[in-house]
Amino acid sequence: MPLPKISAVGTFVPDHVLTNADLEKMVDTSDEWILTRTGISERHIAEPNEATSDLAARAAQSALERAGVAASEVDAIIVCTVTPDMFFPATACLVQHKIGATKAWGFDLSAACAGFIYGITTAANLVMAGTNKRVLVIGADTMSRIIDYTDRATCVLFGDGAGAFLIEPSTEDGLGFIGSHNEIDGSGGGSLYMPAGGSKIPSSVETVQKRMHYVHQDGQAVFKFAVRKTQEACLTVLDKFNVKPEQVKLLVPHQANQRIILAAAERLGLSRERVVINIGRFGNTTAATIPLATREALDQGKIEKGDIVLFAAVGAGFTVGASLWRWA
Ligand code: UT7
Repeated sequence: MPLPKISAVGTFVPDHVLTNADLEKMVDTSDEWILTRTGISERHIAEPNEATSDLAARAAQSALERAGVAASEVDAIIVCTVTPDMFFPATACLVQHKIGATKAWGFDLSAACAGFIYGITTAANLVMAGTNKRVLVIGADTMSRIIDYTDRATCVLFGDGAGAFLIEPSTEDGLGFIGSHNEIDGSGGGSLYMPAGGSKIPSSVETVQKRMHYVHQDGQAVFKFAVRKTQEACLTVLDKFNVKPEQVKLLVPHQANQRIILAAAERLGLSRERVVINIGRFGNTTAATIPLATREALDQGKIEKGDIVLFAAVGAGFTVGASLWRWA
């Protein structure tokens, strides 16, 4: 059975930066509040003519360039997103066309902030089954399109961005995918959601007037669940695959709130140096946070061949995921 490895990591964020000082002019907030409660200083925001597929395609192209792989050699594209360009066709179809991945099939995967973990788990299984050789997993979200910039409780948190992993069979013994643990707790669905625009409450003048096409969140409920479940999912995957916390070189967690990350890391007994935190410059980019943080860790030389890397995320749904890889 071929062992999947992450052979390249590509990212893309839009140029425009929205700072905490900019937000102070838009809603009743302060740089001090945002920084101390979340760790965020700024976030990138897409231009009106940039959609999720544009961000996704740029991240995918960057990953392919780094790997020296042509788009025509990609077998499958998984786009993890909650902000697709449209209901249909799938953003994966738009990306396939934009990058010229002529022989790829693919689909969108909707699991919010844990989407990227579900995506790499799926890709790893496709490679292990021998079904596909080269799989592009893209986490891309244009959160600014579903954020209410009059709601200070949510608008300070999110940003736009994309990141991609190219996953293919490892050529070196023992290096690559170790395993994942994924869960859903659907009882938390009402804590973080977009009420209208789907088949339950279709778009109407009334839903627009009631601002129902924006993110609605019970921040404290999500916070408590995220701290507890990030730790639990990490411990479960470590236990399942016989890896001790002290063997983990780096935790690359979803970036929703610096306080969530630090609390979970502390509970796992991981020191600050063994956790990647880059929320300060990007905010919460939903499915894109993990590849953005991985790229940063690689650029800073924090990941070397043979290192055990643990990815973990909790998101709307609630969705939960943790995935272990021995870096190839
Ligand atoms: O990927 C998963 C997505 N989401 C998350 O992970 C979010 C999880 N939740 C959180 O990160 C935190 O709950 C928040 C950052 C959203 C909020 O932090 P908090 O420490 O839980 O604050 P809070 O909701 O308890 O609000 C405390 C106070 C309230 O005022 P009062 O009622 O005490 O007077 C809020 O109205 O802070 C107020 N507040 C703000 N003040 C200034 C809420 N948002 C802001 C703001 N600026 N932007």
